[in-house]
Amino acid sequence: MNITYNEQNRIFKLDTAKTSYCIGIVDEENFIGHVYYGRKLADDNLVYLMRTEEAPFVPSKNNRDRTSFLDAFPMEYTGNGLGDYREGTLSVKTKNGHTAVSLSYVSHRIYDGKPVLEGLPATFGTEAECKTLELLCEDSVLQLQVVLLYTVFNDTDVITRSVKIVNQGKDALYLTRVLSACIDMDNDDYEMITMHGSWARERAIQVRPIMKGKQGVSSVRGESSHQEHPFMAWKKSTTTQESGEIYGMHFIYSGNFMAQIELTQFDSMRALIGIHPENFCWKLESGESFQAPEAVCVYSAEGIGGMTRTLHNLYRKHLIRGEYKDKKRPILINNWEATYFEFNTQKLLDIARQASRLGIEMLVMDDGWFGCRDDDNTSLGDWKVNEKKIDGGLKYLVEEVNKLGMKFGIWFEPEMISPDSDLYREHPDWAIAVPGRTGSLARNQYVLDLTRKEVRDHIFDMVASVLHSANIEYVKWDMNRQLSDLGSCGLPADRQGELFHRQVLAVYELQDRLTKEFPHLLLENCSGGGARFDPGMLYYSPQIWCSDDADAIERLSIQEGTAMIYPLSTMGAHVADCPNHTVGRVTPFETRGYVALAGTFGYELDVTKIPEADRNMIPEQVAMYHKYNDLVREGDYYRIASYRENHFYDCYEVVSQDKKEALVTYIQVLNRPNYHSRRIRIPGLAPDQMYVIENAADWPEIRQTKYSGEALQYAGINVPALWGDFKGRLMHLVQV
Ligand code: GLA
Repeated sequence: MNITYNEQNRIFKLDTAKTSYCIGIVDEENFIGHVYYGRKLADDNLVYLMRTEEAPFVPSKNNRDRTSFLDAFPMEYTGNGLGDYREGTLSVKTKNGHTAVSLSYVSHRIYDGKPVLEGLPATFGTEAECKTLELLCEDSVLQLQVVLLYTVFNDTDVITRSVKIVNQGKDALYLTRVLSACIDMDNDDYEMITMHGSWARERAIQVRPIMKGKQGVSSVRGESSHQEHPFMAWKKSTTTQESGEIYGMHFIYSGNFMAQIELTQFDSMRALIGIHPENFCWKLESGESFQAPEAVCVYSAEGIGGMTRTLHNLYRKHLIRGEYKDKKRPILINNWEATYFEFNTQKLLDIARQASRLGIEMLVMDDGWFGCRDDDNTSLGDWKVNEKKIDGGLKYLVEEVNKLGMKFGIWFEPEMISPDSDLYREHPDWAIAVPGRTGSLARNQYVLDLTRKEVRDHIFDMVASVLHSANIEYVKWDMNRQLSDLGSCGLPADRQGELFHRQVLAVYELQDRLTKEFPHLLLENCSGGGARFDPGMLYYSPQIWCSDDADAIERLSIQEGTAMIYPLSTMGAHVADCPNHTVGRVTPFETRGYVALAGTFGYELDVTKIPEADRNMIPEQVAMYHKYNDLVREGDYYRIASYRENHFYDCYEVVSQDKKEALVTYIQVLNRPNYHSRRIRIPGLAPDQMYVIENAADWPEIRQTKYSGEALQYAGINVPALWGDFKGRLMHLVQV
């Protein structure tokens, strides 16, 4: 990794092990242009690539036709309103109502390490691990300073970017758009990858051609959402999992976002990512600054898989924190699908007793333990144990669970308030609402106005007091509705446009306090399943519940999309009951175990009620988890085949960093008659080493021989058809 500045050519060059990123300063206006991003180059003299004079009608060195210049020039970070008609990154509104802004280079700093982004989640690294470029630019008319921050890392091929805006003028102004990153480049027959979904079917991968005009994904729901994901990539149409070029942008943020590619009249592309400008308006008083969240930019010449492994390494090493960062997580059993709201101490202890005998390590008490919450109509905000259900009290329950050798975890939904709650009766103004308007309920609840300190403090104290009252070692932090009816009694009229972002900052502050006050706590984020599975939340919790849909077959595509950009160690995945509670499908218990193994692993069923044959399989699954989880958490992930694409089977692999072992998961969704065996190539192994498939004793077609890593990668093996639908196998390859 390195960052250099060539003074003569006025070119910055940021290098990672395999990529280079170049920025140039041009013309007397000191515009900051994007020169190059891609494969690593030794050359830093790429100034010839800067198109300062090419656009139609453009004598660029003077102002005769400035709009044509601005409308074609590849900007690192754009202004607004002066002739760059593409959608941009920054807009303002001055006290006179003007919106124009234009940025010019002033100075720069290059230093070891990386600054913390105040109040925001962000990647981190030591001085030895990363280097940062700070580009200071300004609009001298507005006296607005903009600091562009770029960081490169020594062990992963990403460039992270963020932006800080400082108002040095004497008047307040309003920021109406502050995106975090822009990449302008020529189109090269790229197609776009984004992720889409809904409740119970999050993060389905979609690939589409890039057409003229604007295309992208966004959320204005107050969270990163089930529906679209704060990530996009663009790749050549020939790029596959293991070869070809791909670029990606990912946003470390949990609220409204936009990620967009605009293909222009000149067939150049502008890729943007940042906070969605809709309903965003931030008042910046004189002397104040605004810090935009961080964006991750990634380039790989080694296919989609190259991008995937780069992001996995970045998040494992430079984003996830805390005690469980590199640690195996306890196998948990959660009572939600087992009991829903109908449980009491006895019922939970019955489950725990049975579970502990089978090797399960933690009981998680889900929704329904507080206030008078016997259904989802009531009590959010009243975080006091309902001793009618939890007879004997929480401390007693936890102690009994601990006596069984199990840990205890608990569910909260701290951001919410039920209209039927003591909290609402006492503080109706604590809910986000527009005065005079009947608020829209979702799941019978409102969102608490966490932009108000007294509300945050109250909620934090209630949650903390429950956690202090017993030996609670895990929290599932849920968030079960999206925001609407935006209005805060705590903000003046000209700051209502800050509510969405302030709410996200408040959630970050609360989770920061929680993890500081309870440093040993395992925190799992959740939002109606996986509606807030994003890098922002990963900064606070090493794992996130992936989806409320735990059906093994539905999970294939949910986990495929998730694992394309997130480490397997972060994906909350459980073996659930059958017929599945979301889709009614019946799948073998064994297969459910294989699919959950790709994530954190646990159970979501009533272990006292499931068929005995299934129950008897649990100790085997527990052993399987203990045997493979280090590999799953730490290994390199390869996507081999996608059920989403082929409609028959799914296959993926994790390879240990030293390439001594690998685990291939093969799920045959549908069996078909008259098929011969299926050829599967197994990438990522050491080509010159020999491997055996250690767990294929009962599988004559597979167990027969030693395979070379090279043959496995390029020729593959023949996997015979499995008898029946929804069947699976694990193949554990071990170097000999
Ligand atoms: C959300 C979560 C579920 C469960 C319920 C409880 O839907 O995703 O796992 O905790 O809330 O109400």
